[in-house]
Amino acid sequence: MAKGIKGFRGEILSVSRDPHRHPDAVRYEPDGLLIVEDGLIVARGDYASLAPSYPGIPIDHLPGLVVPGFIDAHVHYAQMDHIASHGEQLLDWLDRHIFPAEKAFADRAHAASLANLFLDELLRNGTTSALVFPTVHAHSVDALFDAALDRNMRILSGKILMDLGPDGLADMPESGRDESEALIRRWRGRGRLGYAVTPRFALTSSDAQLQVAGALLADHPDILLHTHLAENLRECAAVADRFPTARDYLDVYDRFGLVGARSVFAHGVHLSDHACTRLAESGAGIAVCPSSNLFLGSGFFNFGQADAHGVRIGLGTDVGAGTSFSLLHTAGLAYQAALSRDYPLDPFRALYLATAGSATLLHIDDRVGGLEPGQEADFVLLDCAATPLLARRTAKATLAERLFALQILGDDRAIARTYIMGQCAWNRQGTAS
Ligand code: GUN
Ligand code: ZN
Repeated sequence: MAKGIKGFRGEILSVSRDPHRHPDAVRYEPDGLLIVEDGLIVARGDYASLAPSYPGIPIDHLPGLVVPGFIDAHVHYAQMDHIASHGEQLLDWLDRHIFPAEKAFADRAHAASLANLFLDELLRNGTTSALVFPTVHAHSVDALFDAALDRNMRILSGKILMDLGPDGLADMPESGRDESEALIRRWRGRGRLGYAVTPRFALTSSDAQLQVAGALLADHPDILLHTHLAENLRECAAVADRFPTARDYLDVYDRFGLVGARSVFAHGVHLSDHACTRLAESGAGIAVCPSSNLFLGSGFFNFGQADAHGVRIGLGTDVGAGTSFSLLHTAGLAYQAALSRDYPLDPFRALYLATAGSATLLHIDDRVGGLEPGQEADFVLLDCAATPLLARRTAKATLAERLFALQILGDDRAIARTYIMGQCAWNRQGTAS
């Protein structure tokens, strides 16, 4: 028997390609087996046909629905304690609640404490990977990456660039560049981490800093670009005012070399058809954040428009504008946002968006998101009877009905266990092993 090899037996479901374009993308074994060796999936199939090839290995029985670990394509760790801040749309909410919260991250110990709490909260919600906004402080990235390394999580982040930010949060083009370069050098190749050049949004960076961001991307072809795009109408008007010759908001980023296959734009609620065409042809993607869009009164993402142009999409919580860390709950809100434009989102597609769809945006889809052999064994055990109502609603339901009920009625309560590379990292019953 090979060292470190183990089986996981249960009901297994994954969707590694977008079912909107690949209707046969759903992979499902009602009684399945995952074979995991040293954290990697080496085989997957029906228990009855696969088990005889692995005689004598230890097998854990997983009582529930096993899906890939959720992947949050856009979230702010520094905003965790300011979730549910009342009263304003985006620009005023930033000024009143968020910028003061981020200033507190000048204190390294505060950053370290929040980074640990944040990653524990992700695991409690079944989220195993994320693309994360920290703060402008370089040590906020160190704190997050240190905590991710401790938990062996696949996390991507990068220091915020915001030289036009308020006092106490503004960097400079040169310091932003130098600190980003130092972070890339310090963290490249460590654990399961990845770097993203992170200008906050067009309004908080000078032209010189947007140019720096473009140069960093050009110099480091393995890193991502992560920013906000066309979230709120007043934001869009301010961008149009500042960049009167730009064709649209996306074009502002395009002029600085920030639109490419490794670019992840959060929101995209107010996009022109031209911007969608450009997103699709460049391979850039949108992290759709329906909970945040509802909370800040930003509007509803136009799934039909994005699909008509073939724009890549994934799912993000955008906590602290988002109101939940749960990508199950966020998938349920994505359904409601899509339906507001009479465009129902299939529950298997919603699962795709929260797993392999986000993984594709983050360029980690070769490693995670599909529970395919060769990938890392990050997965979640879902409890379809997590609440009395869920139990009643799913008792005689089909797989699609159960999955939809989990998305509409479920949240962190439905996460029975979260596994990182085959190790239990969160157990609702109290003992992670
Ligand atoms: N746009 C610029 N900064 C932010 C932020 O922190 N949250 C959201 N939702 N949008 C932004
Ligand atoms: Zn955001």
